[in-house]
Amino acid sequence: MARPKIKAGTSVNPKITRSSTLLFDKADDLYNGKHRIYGRHGSEVHDALEKAFCTLEGGVACTLTPSGLAANTLSILANTKTGDHILVSDSSYGPVRNFCNNLLERFGVETEYFPPSLGGDIESYVKDNTRLIVLESPGSLSMEIQDLPAITALAQSRGITTVVDNTWSAGLVYNPLKLGADIVVHSATKYYGGHSDVLYGAVISADKKHGELVRKTAVALGNSSSPDDTYVVLRGFRSVIPRFEKQAKTALSIANELANHPKIKRVIHPARADHPDHKIWARDFSGSACLFSIVLEPCPEAEVLAFLDRLKLFAKGFSFGGYESLIIHCDPQLNRNFNPGFGGPLIRLACGLEDGEDLLADLCASLEELNLDQMA
Ligand SMILES: Cc1ncc(COP(=O)(O)O)c(C=O)c1O
Repeated sequence: MARPKIKAGTSVNPKITRSSTLLFDKADDLYNGKHRIYGRHGSEVHDALEKAFCTLEGGVACTLTPSGLAANTLSILANTKTGDHILVSDSSYGPVRNFCNNLLERFGVETEYFPPSLGGDIESYVKDNTRLIVLESPGSLSMEIQDLPAITALAQSRGITTVVDNTWSAGLVYNPLKLGADIVVHSATKYYGGHSDVLYGAVISADKKHGELVRKTAVALGNSSSPDDTYVVLRGFRSVIPRFEKQAKTALSIANELANHPKIKRVIHPARADHPDHKIWARDFSGSACLFSIVLEPCPEAEVLAFLDRLKLFAKGFSFGGYESLIIHCDPQLNRNFNPGFGGPLIRLACGLEDGEDLLADLCASLEELNLDQMA
């Protein structure tokens, strides 16, 4: 993917060119609109990465962003104006809520959250001024899968743009543009960076109209990303499939083992038949990913923290898709309008590239010491 045109002795990878200033031999070229005129507008390696993301998602245009959060906020800004109403899934990534509630609101755009399980019933939330529906499927803490075809059918009939955060699936096992979405966003920080050493994002559009809106908004905002970071993300494309597949396999096998553990109330993994949205997942996804959640039997917060602190292979940290396994307790950041009612502490696990049996043993050893008695 994204190979340069091959001549004799061509490097297998695109060049990294570091530049703010681009030079022109003819004055006319400065303003005739035919050339890239400034470093902020990208370089050869940016072009290659944009092409790779378009190929991945089946989109016609890609705008690169300095982070995944920037990809989300850019796609929202590009599609709203004062007086608009937008619908955001209640399961959306917390910092997206922060952006909507604290910044977008200042510019007169009203955000309304809806229960992630609504599907086509989202119609009851649509107003005359609804311009945008923002989805994340699955929700990256609580793992709800949205009925995207039902939502996009409704959105299309009302001229509403749909944006889907597709970070969980890396675009490898879920294709929202094929299911009618207009825009897909990625935090490339996760699987495409793959080594927890770069922040990056991408916005991929299904058609030219949305692609232009996003690109013009990014230009107006002065978005740019370094060629070095861009190269690192492009390099991630080369090995993402085997990394993703190994991590997904490990995650599902750990989820299946933990489902029978007496100290675990619930495993929330969409590929398991006991997931409430499993049928939608089986219809729309071709596989699962490294990320899933568990609900512990009710226990004091101190026990939850001690459970995490005893782990030796799962490190405590806020990400996924890197080589290392990560874990977080979610309750402090579960800022929801519709209480999903987990009935116990929610923990999110991101499986890395370590041996799956070692990871399971790490979890089981720590669960062994988890003390539920205090809740009896
Ligand atoms: C689903 C999802 N979208 C977006 C982001 C933001 O990505 P970034 O860290 O690249 O800003 C994250 C980060 O955790 C995420 O989980």
